[in-house]
Amino acid sequence: MFDYTPDPALAKPDRYRQLLDAAAEITRGERDGIANMANIAALLWQFLPGLNWAGFYRVLGDELVLGPFIGKPACIRIAIGTGVCGTAVARAATQRVADVTRFPGHIACDAASRAELVVPVLRAGAVIAVIDLDSPHLAHFDAEDAAGIEALASLCGTWL
Ligand code: SME
Repeated sequence: MFDYTPDPALAKPDRYRQLLDAAAEITRGERDGIANMANIAALLWQFLPGLNWAGFYRVLGDELVLGPFIGKPACIRIAIGTGVCGTAVARAATQRVADVTRFPGHIACDAASRAELVVPVLRAGAVIAVIDLDSPHLAHFDAEDAAGIEALASLCGTWL
């Protein structure tokens, strides 16, 4: 049994450190990427307040394909270069969107989503997946969230 209990009193960087420690422990020695992504999605959901979607898209050929996640059912395939996720892949850069209605080409999978954070996962310099977080709160994600998820994405790049 894994029992990771986030401490609500922790400052955000400390909460991300706790999340990263849990993610490293739960994936240690496990090479199955789907199992690991599923557990990471569960940890994101457990540790981060104010989300309505948390999960992965993988780069397969010239598109992104839905991976393990928690939230409402989502669009399955996204062309690279479109939407927030496809833009993160095309630019190989984190996309932190305060208001998705102002992001040209944003793909709405859950009408409740207002803010989005998408972080690329890299292996050998190439984007192989993204971590995608959605929130129903405008401007929900700050620079500390981006840094925390980027650290998590680095870990994911070691086994994905
Ligand atoms: N909003 C994303 C699509 C994926 S869902 O948020 C889960 C985008 O614009 O790429």
